[in-house]
This record gives sequence, C-alpha cells and structure tokens, in this order.
Amino acid sequence: MGNDTVTVTNNATGKSAEFPLLKGTHGPDVADISTLYQKLGIFTYDPGFKSTGSCKSAITFIDGEEGILLYRGYPIEQLAEQSSYPEVCYLLYYGELPNKKQYADFDKIMNHHSMVNESLRTFYQGFHHNAHPMAIMVGVVGALSAFYHDSLEIGDLRHQEISAHRLIAKMPTIAAACYKHSVGQPMVYPNNKMGYAANFLNMMFSVPADDYEVNPVHARALDLLFTLHADHEQNASTSTVRLAGSSEANPFAAVSAGIGALWGPAHGGANEAVIRMLEEIGDAKNIDKFIARAKDKNDTFRLMGFGHRVYKNYDPRARIIAKMAKEMLGTTSGTDPLLEISLKLEEIALKDEYFIGRKLYPNVDFYSGIIYKAMGIPTNMFTVLFSIARTIGWITQWHEMINDPQRSIGRPRQLYTGAAKRDYVPINARG
Ligand code: SDX
Repeated sequence: MGNDTVTVTNNATGKSAEFPLLKGTHGPDVADISTLYQKLGIFTYDPGFKSTGSCKSAITFIDGEEGILLYRGYPIEQLAEQSSYPEVCYLLYYGELPNKKQYADFDKIMNHHSMVNESLRTFYQGFHHNAHPMAIMVGVVGALSAFYHDSLEIGDLRHQEISAHRLIAKMPTIAAACYKHSVGQPMVYPNNKMGYAANFLNMMFSVPADDYEVNPVHARALDLLFTLHADHEQNASTSTVRLAGSSEANPFAAVSAGIGALWGPAHGGANEAVIRMLEEIGDAKNIDKFIARAKDKNDTFRLMGFGHRVYKNYDPRARIIAKMAKEMLGTTSGTDPLLEISLKLEEIALKDEYFIGRKLYPNVDFYSGIIYKAMGIPTNMFTVLFSIARTIGWITQWHEMINDPQRSIGRPRQLYTGAAKRDYVPINARG
C-alpha cells in the first residue's frame, strides 16, 4: 500500500482493492475510482457530486475554504484590477496572456464575428414581446449550429477555434436583440469601433432616431463584471456543457444546454432572484422577518445570493462587486435603496449563527444585480448577461473535454430503489 494509493474494503464481502491517489497543482488529492465497479462490483453514491471530481482540468482553480479563484493560475483580484474581459477570454482559451500582436489579432477576429446571419434576426419574431430572454437565448444560440456547417467537425482544432470565436463574439449581439425585441425597438448592429462591453451597451440602448453615448463608467464596470463571471470550474452549467458535449453534439448545442442550466435560481438565475427578493423586502425594517424565513425549515424561502457549494468563505468575486457597487452608487443614505437593504442584510446575516455555522456568505450574485440595475439593465436580462460572460468558460471547458485523451461519453449509474422484478398482469386480471 503506497502513499499514492487509497484502499477500499467492502466489509460485506471482505474484498479490498487499491486505487491511485492523484495529486494536482493545487487542491485536495483525488482518488481515481474509475475501476471500482470492475474490481469490487460496487458503485459510488454522491448526489450533487459534493465529493466527486468529474474531470482533470487546467483552466480554473477554486479554494472554497480560503476564497481563492485563479484563471489559468492568475488570481481573480489581479485580473480584475489589471486585465480586460477580451484579454481574459484569450487567457482562458489559449492558456497564456497574449502579447500585443496576439491581442490585436484576437480583437480583430472578435470584431469579424460580431454580426449574426440576417435570417437569424427573424427568429425573434416568433417570440411574444414578454418572452423571458433566457428562453430566447436557449433557442437562438442552439440554432447557430444550423448556420455553420463549415465548422462542426468537433475533432478539428480549427473548427473548435472558429466555433469558440463565433460564440464569444456573437453572444452580446444575440443577447441585446432579446432586449430590443421585448421593447419593440429595432435590433442594433454591432459597431466594431467599440470595445466588447461598450458595444453591448450600445446594442442595448441606442436607437436609430437619436445619438447615443455609452457611459464609460458603465462600460468599464460591465467589462469587470464579465471578467468576474467568465469561468468557475465545474459548476452546474459548465458540467452540463461538458456532459452534452461528451455525446459529440456540436458546441452550439452544448452551450445552449449550459444556458438552460444557468437559468435556474439556484445557479445563474440567482442574480435576478436577488433583486426580486430585495424589492420584496422593500425596507430595512423588514429584514429580520426575511432572515427568519430563510432559517425556517418549513419555508422554502432562501436568502438569494447567499451560500455556495464550494465557497465556505466570502466569494472573492462578491467582494470585488460589493466594492464596485459602493463606488458606483455611493453608500451615503438616499442612494439606491436596494443597495442599502443589501448592505444591511449582509451585515445582519453575517452576525447570525445560522449563516455563520453553515458558512453562508454573499456569492457573486448578491451585488451584481444592483450594478446592472444602475446601468438601466432590466432585471430579466441579468442572467442573460451572466450567460454572455460565461460563454468563454463554457467553450473553453468544452474544448478541454473534447481534446482529453481519456474522453468518453458521460454516463453515470444509480442506486435503483424501484419495484423488484415482477410479471405483467393482463388488465382483466387486475383488481
Ligand atoms: C452561482 O457552483 C458554482 O460555481 C456557481 C457559481 C458560478 O460562478 O458558476 O458560483 C454561480 O450559482 C452562485 C450561487 C447562486 N445561488 C444562490 O444564491 C441561491 C441561494 N443559495 C442556495 O440555494 C445554496 O446556497 C446553493 C444552491 C448556492 C448551494 O447549495 P448547497 O451547496 O447544496 O448547500 P445546501 O443546500 O446543502 O445548504 C447547506 C445548508 C442547508 O441547511 P441545513 O439543511 O444544513 O440545515 O445551508 C442552508 C441549507 O438550507 N442554506 C441556506 C442557503 N443556502 C444554503 N439557507 C438559507 N439561505 C440560503 N441561501
């Protein structure tokens, strides 16, 4: 029994077997139990995958106890301070920070792919104006595969790269068009003279009848929010993209599946749910009532934007966003009442044993909606913005999975608890 193995003994049969103990660059060791069933005839059971590593990955590292987040080894705090979202997209996909020429070429490619096929624009007419924009995103992004027959060979590295470029570049255009459809305004074409975030804001808020000037403070804040949301290891939507992609479905279909998973309020939908919760609280004097509801096992209400499967410390992204919110909106009284309620809510919750004992802290979604709201983004578009930002993470994780020499279709097993084997009873013989 070496110190690079673990031994599993099945006490019911007395059989034992050794399994390799794998060591990564950072983080806990991993027991490779892929031969467990073959050696001991048993499965593992881990609903929610709380103790299960689904893959090897070199993209993003999270230390939940310490509140650490690294993109390709670089701390999120340094990237937030010194980088930009397009540069972070390059870093995540190619694994290294670009030099000046690489960055310039990448920026040109992003611009080249920012428009969508004109016939894609008619898809929006099929939706009512009050369709949730995430429903439109799932449909339109999945439909991109209907246009790009020239780059769907998933084993071709160049096809993978073109699809990644197309997805990153087109998401803002597709997303802004969801908003324009909801307000009955004409969709706005991308303007390649603008930066990525500014271009999105222009496509959201400019109209043909007037001049429109993108607020540079908003553009910088949005670029930073995109960076903070870019990737996050094997979260629910990324795992969905990997699983969908493992069947060799095309990357547009896999990312569309990820958008669907992100929509849930337990995941990316939380940023929309936080604002609706703060609006329901309405006034700081009501906070105690909602805290009590969050602690009540008989009440399904949860404090949205609080808690995290991995972070048992303050989410480093939330810390940066909270600072940004205070800088943008100020903390003097009479600023955004929702910011005042959220700051008070955080203060009360973080002193409450229920939250302390369960290590529940604000996560990335707790403050982001307040900033989106200050930019004039409607609440039902918040998760759409999360999907724009996360597209680079999804397509990079998909790219890593597709090129993994150990790749195989994801197909978990189960613990069967249904009826024991029994014979069919003809209907005339039934009671
Ligand atoms: C994102 O995975 C990622 O990386 C996701 C993400 C990313 O970048 O991709 O970081 C983005 O999805 C952030 C999370 C956004 N979701 C929310 O803010 C929704 C509110 N949070 C909870 O639903 C919850 O905290 C989860 C879903 C985020 C995590 O749930 P877990 O890990 O399954 O934790 P759990 O449900 O087992 O909770 C442990 C305990 C339970 O109490 P007990 O049964 O032990 O008594 O904590 C309680 C829970 O009831 N709890 C909460 C709570 N979150 C957990 N109680 C009140 N309010 C909450 N928000």
